[in-house]
Amino acid sequence: MEILIIGGTRYFGKRLVTRLLAAGHHVTVLNRGSSPAPEGTTPLTADRDDESALRKALAGRRFDVVIDQVCYTPRQADVARRVFAGRTRRYVMTSTVEVYEYEDSATPVTEAAVDPSTVPVDLGLPWDDADFLDAHYGEGKRQAEAVFAAGTEFAWTSVRVAHVLGGADDFTGRVGHYARRIAAGEPIDVPAANRAATYVYVEEIAAFLAWAAEAEFTGPVNAHSHGPLTTADICAAIEELTGGRTVFRSTEVGTVSPFSFSRAYAMDNSRAESLGYRFSHTSQWLRKAIAETVRATTTNEEA
Ligand SMILES: NC(=O)c1ccc[n+]([C@@H]2O[C@H](COP(=O)([O-])OP(=O)(O)OC[C@H]3O[C@@H](n4cnc5c(N)ncnc54)[C@H](OP(=O)(O)O)[C@@H]3O)[C@@H](O)[C@H]2O)c1
Repeated sequence: MEILIIGGTRYFGKRLVTRLLAAGHHVTVLNRGSSPAPEGTTPLTADRDDESALRKALAGRRFDVVIDQVCYTPRQADVARRVFAGRTRRYVMTSTVEVYEYEDSATPVTEAAVDPSTVPVDLGLPWDDADFLDAHYGEGKRQAEAVFAAGTEFAWTSVRVAHVLGGADDFTGRVGHYARRIAAGEPIDVPAANRAATYVYVEEIAAFLAWAAEAEFTGPVNAHSHGPLTTADICAAIEELTGGRTVFRSTEVGTVSPFSFSRAYAMDNSRAESLGYRFSHTSQWLRKAIAETVRATTTNEEA
């Protein structure tokens, strides 16, 4: 198939490219050119926020599937909805578990908890302001999904990705946050009621997106490994690898550590499994994932 990836130059985007190439697809990678497109792909350079530059870069090109790794706002979705009309058959938007940030559920959350066709869209919010966007990550993704749900000329799905763990190239610094504190015996701030969350291994989410690209289903789909994890599970894996001691400090107000959650919005992956995908269990990869990231963090800090 002819597949376009918007993004595709770091973390699981890179692994997705590798998988699609190995499956025999012709892969085009579009980004702003900060780093070279992966070997074996056709590079296109444009800022996806600039509609005319995007149209120019895509001139004459048609795709079976577009995988949009960097759609964070309804404005970006709106540009994509127009530009890719008549240019692709299928569109896969990489979304996030954070669309469920306001859920607090005793049972795992299904896709029905956030129906994008009911989410109001406000294109006038300051989506181009980096601080606003940072503070409204979940809202931006919800509204981006809602733009596609309101009507497109192509079939679309949004993959609601759990928190991703693993890889020497995890650039988010979240596991490093814990590793440094555990090594120094410094307190780790967590909410008084700290809920388990859902996670996925970096290679597994790349595999899932590649599978979603080849599939035909539409609408939102949750993507995560079985076996929710608590902050304590992640810290225990770090302790086992590095020694050190986890000290939790319960915090009522203010910022808590990145993988701690006062609301329970762990996802339910039964839609994806009923469509034919089989997820792993976190116990199969947690130690490996932590080791990959912690070893790289330590090496980088020593260098
Ligand atoms: N990490 C997690 O735990 C997690 C969890 C849930 C969901 N997600 C989702 O995962 C996605 C990111 O995946 P990834 O980190 O593997 O990324 P990726 O596919 O490699 O995409 C990142 C690349 O996109 C390019 N890009 C950024 N803005 C652009 C723009 N305006 N126009 C064109 N290209 C642009 C950048 O390259 P240039 O600088 O060269 O443009 C950047 O290196 C996001 O949608 C995020 O919400 C992540």
